[in-house]
Amino acid sequence: MKYLKLLVFLAAVGALACGESAKGGISVKDVAATGALYQQNCSACHGIKGEGVVGPTFKTGVPMTRSLEQLTAQINGGSGVMPAFKDKLQPDQINELAKYVYKEIQGRQ
Ligand code: HEC
Repeated sequence: MKYLKLLVFLAAVGALACGESAKGGISVKDVAATGALYQQNCSACHGIKGEGVVGPTFKTGVPMTRSLEQLTAQINGGSGVMPAFKDKLQPDQINELAKYVYKEIQGRQ
């Protein structure tokens, strides 16, 4: 019985440690921190919930068809009125922001 509990415990720790690869989906490492980053850098143009202001909404149309790679490329390079963020943010922050848009704002898996 003691060993069974230990096994259950180890399985739970293993599942946690594997994180996104185990689930196979996209997940933001720290939703609160990335959300704050989004509010600071993106919400003025894209809206607090991605509903669009100067920049387009993320929630309908073409942006909903973008791959994670395309979202990442746009944040890195910008276009038109949108500034490039590759010199303003760390690569990891940009990757997390792309996942944040994809998963938390657009609700895609
Ligand atoms: C100064 C305003 C502004 C800011 C700040 C800004 N954007 Fe944009 N964004 C735009 C505009 C305008 C477009 C449309 C691009 C074009 O016209 O070429 C755009 C396009 C995009 C697209 C592509 C949408 C699509 O599929 O066509 C993504 C993704 C995006 N922005 C994400 C972000 C993220 C994430 C941030 C914060 C790191 C951000 N933007 C900050 C104005 C902005």
